[in-house]
Amino acid sequence: MSEVTIFVDGEPVPAEAGRPLGALMHRLGPAMRRTEEGAPRGLFCGMGVCFDCLVTIDGVADRRACMTPIRDGMRVETGLAGGTPS
Ligand code: FES
Repeated sequence: MSEVTIFVDGEPVPAEAGRPLGALMHRLGPAMRRTEEGAPRGLFCGMGVCFDCLVTIDGVADRRACMTPIRDGMRVETGLAGGTPS
């Protein structure tokens, strides 16, 4: 695994290429998005079934973080108000 930098809501984050993005996002803060009612959602099943970990990756919405390997320079946008995982 090689050290790379990704960007989460515009902030640089060191990461290891090839590791699941969902694991890194969970480490940053358990919530990755909010439902229409405002409830936080984040890593739950970790295997692509629940769709709770949806984020925007390189401009493509609704990507499952748990099923996405990290690669250098990827840009991740959470669905959180204010843009910071909490
Ligand atoms: S955590 Fe369930 S689909 Fe990603």
